[in-house]
Parts: sequence; C-alpha cells; structure tokens
Amino acid sequence: MNRLNGKTAVITGGATGIGRAAAKRFIEEGAFVFIFGRRQDALDAALADLGPNARAVKGSVSDLADLDRLYAAVAAERGTLDIVFANAGAGSPLPLGKITPEHIDETFDTNVKGTIMTVQKALPLMGEGGSIILTGSSAGTTGAPAFSAYSASKAAVRNLARTWAEDLKGTGIRVNVLSPGATATELAKEALGEEGQKVFASMTPLQRMADPAEIGAVAAFLASPDSSFMTASEVAVDGGLAQL
Ligand SMILES: NC(=O)c1ccc[n+]([C@@H]2O[C@H](COP(=O)([O-])OP(=O)(O)OC[C@H]3O[C@@H](n4cnc5c(N)ncnc54)[C@H](OP(=O)(O)O)[C@@H]3O)[C@@H](O)[C@H]2O)c1
Repeated sequence: MNRLNGKTAVITGGATGIGRAAAKRFIEEGAFVFIFGRRQDALDAALADLGPNARAVKGSVSDLADLDRLYAAVAAERGTLDIVFANAGAGSPLPLGKITPEHIDETFDTNVKGTIMTVQKALPLMGEGGSIILTGSSAGTTGAPAFSAYSASKAAVRNLARTWAEDLKGTGIRVNVLSPGATATELAKEALGEEGQKVFASMTPLQRMADPAEIGAVAAFLASPDSSFMTASEVAVDGGLAQL
C-alpha cells in the first residue's frame, strides 16, 4: 500500500514499541518519518532499522525547547508536516494510599502536557488533510488497579481529541485517539511485570497481548485518507479488553 506517499510524519516515542512499529509501517506506506525520544541509543537502533526515510531528533516532550528543535528540523528538511502521532507516554503503578505528587507530575507532564505541547507546536506546519493521532489506552476507559495517575492521564488524552476537533474546525485537520490494550512493549514489561502481562492477556477476549505492529497498522489507517471522515473518535485496538 502507498497511502502515505509523499507525507511527512512526526512520531514521539518513535524509537521503541508502538511508535517504532508505526514508523516502520508509515515508511512502508510511503511516508518520511521523524522519530523523537530521549535515549540516543534507542533512536540510533531505530534509525538503523527504519532506513533512509527516517530522521531522529533527541528530546523530551516535556521540554518546550526540545519540541522547538524537533519542528525546526521538520521545517528545514520538509517544509510542512502532514501527520503527528503524539505517542510518547509513560506510566507505573502506585496504589491509592501511596500516590505521591511527584508520581502525578511525572505522569501528567509526559502524557498530558507533553501531548498538548507536541500537537500545539506542530500546528504552524500543518494544514488541510493533516492527521493528528493521540495514543490513549484501554486504561483510560476501564481503570486498572494501582494505575490511577496513568489511567486518569489517558482519560484526559481521550478528551483532548474531542475538544481539539472543535478547535480545529475549518482547518481540514483531523484528530483521533488510538487506544491500545495490553501490547508487548518495554512499557508493558516494566509496568506490569511477567505475571501482570499474563493477567492482562487472560482478561483480553482475544486471549493474548497485541504485537506492536497491530497497533501501527491502525495508526497508518488513521494517518491516511482512508479515515478521511473520522475526527474526535477513539479507536480501540485492544482485543476487546475495554469493550465488554
Ligand atoms: N504497551 C501497552 O500495553 C500500552 C497500552 C496502552 C497504551 N500504551 C501507550 O502506548 C504509548 C507507547 O508506549 P509503548 O507501549 O510503545 O512503550 P515504550 O516502548 O516504552 O514506548 C514509550 C516511548 O515513549 C518515549 N518517551 C517516554 N517519555 C518521553 C518523553 N518525556 N519525551 C519523549 N519521549 C518519551 C520513550 O522513549 P525514551 O524513554 O527514549 O524517551 C519510548 O520510546 C504510550 O503512550 C503508552 O502509554 C501502551
């Protein structure tokens, strides 16, 4: 398929997991992709895999100067931007009773403030036909034990698409949320552990975790004109986890 021919995309958290799988898929479908994240070694490994139609910019979505460098790099090489996949995210468990202000700040700085500033700073480069995709989570709908801050941050992300669809009226730019269920990535391994991953797989109607490529495939659909009449939607790619 070449649904993304000639398109330029930014993917935050694009060096690993879901972001990297999406970057691979976007490039296979014809896009030129900028990946963004904090670890140079992860960015280098991803670039080696993604090939000549990828660039990497090191930085944090919580740092406005880093985001400015990202979009300056996009403007310098490509001029405009068609697709933003605001996917960088983080979360760890802390049960009610043990939650600290630092834990809340850390989670919301990345997942909510980082998502807002990633998109806001992209807008001057975007126009008619643009697609913004935000990574939500099944946890934003269902809740998950000890994941208060993470789940609340992802519920906030779901609302951002609703509100921005209003703010973006008349621009021709669409915005949707892609909400994965349990997906086999570093984040899932760290946040859930081996046992937790088995529990989530068994709670999922399809009885397994997702492969990141299965999430990347839906990101490519939302990035492409195949989803041209979709905005403000949440697309669950969760094996049914949050749908019963
Ligand atoms: N895996 C799941 O089960 C699951 C389920 C639902 C939703 N999600 C969501 O999917 C998204 C991707 O996660 P993943 O599962 O693919 O895990 P992952 O492989 O750990 O990916 C997270 C990515 O985000 C980047 N990142 C984290 N904080 C950042 C920051 N402040 N600035 C820039 N980049 C940052 C990380 O790179 P650096 O550390 O190098 O910055 C990493 O590349 C997240 O939003 C996550 O909440 C995952």
